[in-house]
Amino acid sequence: MQKEIFEQPIVVAQTLKSYLRPLEQKVALPQMDFSFADVPRITIVACGTSFYAGMVAKYWLEQFARVPVELDIASEFRYRQPVLEKGGMALFISQSGETADTLAALRHARAEGQKVAVVVNVPTSSMAREADLLLPTHAGPEIGVASTKAFTCQLAVLAALAAKVARDKGVMSEAEEREIVEHLTEAPAAMNAALAHDEEIEAMAPVIAAARDVLYLGRGPDYPMAMEGALKLKEISYIHAEGYAAGEMKHGPIALIDKDVPVIVIAPSGPLFDKTVSNMQEVQARGGKVVLISDAE
Ligand code: F6R
Repeated sequence: MQKEIFEQPIVVAQTLKSYLRPLEQKVALPQMDFSFADVPRITIVACGTSFYAGMVAKYWLEQFARVPVELDIASEFRYRQPVLEKGGMALFISQSGETADTLAALRHARAEGQKVAVVVNVPTSSMAREADLLLPTHAGPEIGVASTKAFTCQLAVLAALAAKVARDKGVMSEAEEREIVEHLTEAPAAMNAALAHDEEIEAMAPVIAAARDVLYLGRGPDYPMAMEGALKLKEISYIHAEGYAAGEMKHGPIALIDKDVPVIVIAPSGPLFDKTVSNMQEVQARGGKVVLISDAE
């Protein structure tokens, strides 16, 4: 798992190569025989970590492309008789391309007349074969039980997809597209910089390791990131963890906070920073220990 974590800058760069044209400063999907201009709605379906990548994509697609997005866990979607709009697109996200609930959901969506797009890491998988629009991640084999590099590669593809949908729908300017291409091009170096904090993270780990419960907080796209962080901690450390939308804390979970519950706050600089920091201060007022993940700014 550690090896795969450290592979992230390389495999994300490798993945982005298929989705960006750096000279023209444009996003381009590898296999594209239709426009997203007329897609009225996108339904995203996945499990586990891939579901959290899908949840981040919902924020991006709605913000950038102004397209309504529905999001479902595959095991729920499959059995809840979802209403799917004619001409809609269903997007399935999977590292393996074989997860039974996601595959069954894909087949259900196809039977309901949806265009099927798939973000998948294994190019020979069932989902890859059954896609109308195949969007591969190039993370290489992921052997670790907990998904790491596949997740960040999924995010890279989903960011490019959101920009492409936005351009096709005419709601993103060329200048905005250029800005996204620049940010994505910088992502691998930013990941390298984040990984350089390895020793500080190791030094801080005993604070978390001693806890019985841990909360993760984030806002906007960092809300699904908080849930993904909590999932990783549960899977790998067997420590109970929950991810919450930072603004939801005061509606109940704050009652859990005391000096024995570390709270990991994900708050990058930007428009939501002050709001998240005020939630962080509420936690500190109750004696909670805070680990803040932010950027230098
Ligand atoms: C968590 C993890 C799982 C998978 C889930 C879906 O670290 O690995 O939650 O994300 O089982 O698997 P795929 O993406 O192969 O469909």
